[in-house]
Amino acid sequence: MNETLRIQCSHRSIRSYKPDPVSEEMLNNIIVAAQHAPTSMNAQEISLIVVRDAERKAEIAELAGSQPWISQAPVFITIVIDFHKTDLGVRKAGQTQIIQESIEGFGVAAVDAGIVLGTMITAAESLGLGVVPIGGIRRNPQGMIDLLALPPLTFPLVGLVIGHIENNAPQKPRLALKTFRHDEHYDASHYADAIDVYDAEILNYWQQLNRADGMTWSNNLGAALKQVYFPHVRPVAAMQGLLNDK
Ligand SMILES: Cc1cc2nc3c(=O)[nH]c(=O)nc-3n(C[C@H](O)[C@H](O)[C@H](O)COP(=O)(O)O)c2cc1C
Repeated sequence: MNETLRIQCSHRSIRSYKPDPVSEEMLNNIIVAAQHAPTSMNAQEISLIVVRDAERKAEIAELAGSQPWISQAPVFITIVIDFHKTDLGVRKAGQTQIIQESIEGFGVAAVDAGIVLGTMITAAESLGLGVVPIGGIRRNPQGMIDLLALPPLTFPLVGLVIGHIENNAPQKPRLALKTFRHDEHYDASHYADAIDVYDAEILNYWQQLNRADGMTWSNNLGAALKQVYFPHVRPVAAMQGLLNDK
């Protein structure tokens, strides 16, 4: 394994941070690495908002559903879908931009946002920093829009906490690789058995951490996915001028 693969295979989300600041040089390296990532059509329809201010981080922590690691860590980055930026180019070309109203537009931007997120994670971890992605900002997207002064045609999709690690976390096991990698064609024949094995494995993982609230993967998903857990996404995205197609 080379150093990059070792870092990627050692990933774990960190929820315990020292108050020490992340240097501007480190932060800039992480962001510049992410800006070099590919984007669909070279649209570059992603923007990042860096928040270091303690009060603003505390507000984001609450908007995201009381997640204390957002306040604790020195940096919070919001990854924003930014069709406002592309609209300026489209208007300059004398055209009318409509892609943002479609599931295609939201999907493309979500893919590009994910690439930015993943690139920042590897970059930050390569510098010895800890990270945890925060989808919880979609719990109250209007609150994030107001706090960050986001204009129409933009949407705060996901965030990333970055900081110096206080307590390292053990690595969370994954489902068997054969549920992830399919060769030549899709094959779900191993899924049910792999889920049984994984449910037992992850319960054991929680027990080792003395986490009495730890659930099996199946029960955790049962609790989470039986509903649209962030129901404000669709209406707020529509108010921003996104996702308005049939
Ligand atoms: C898009 C995305 C959103 C996430 N949102 C949150 C979040 O709001 N709060 C949190 O504590 N962890 C969040 N996570 C972290 C996941 O819970 C974590 O990646 C998963 O449990 C696997 O654990 P690991 O990252 O330690 O391997 C998020 C991860 C991703 C990729």
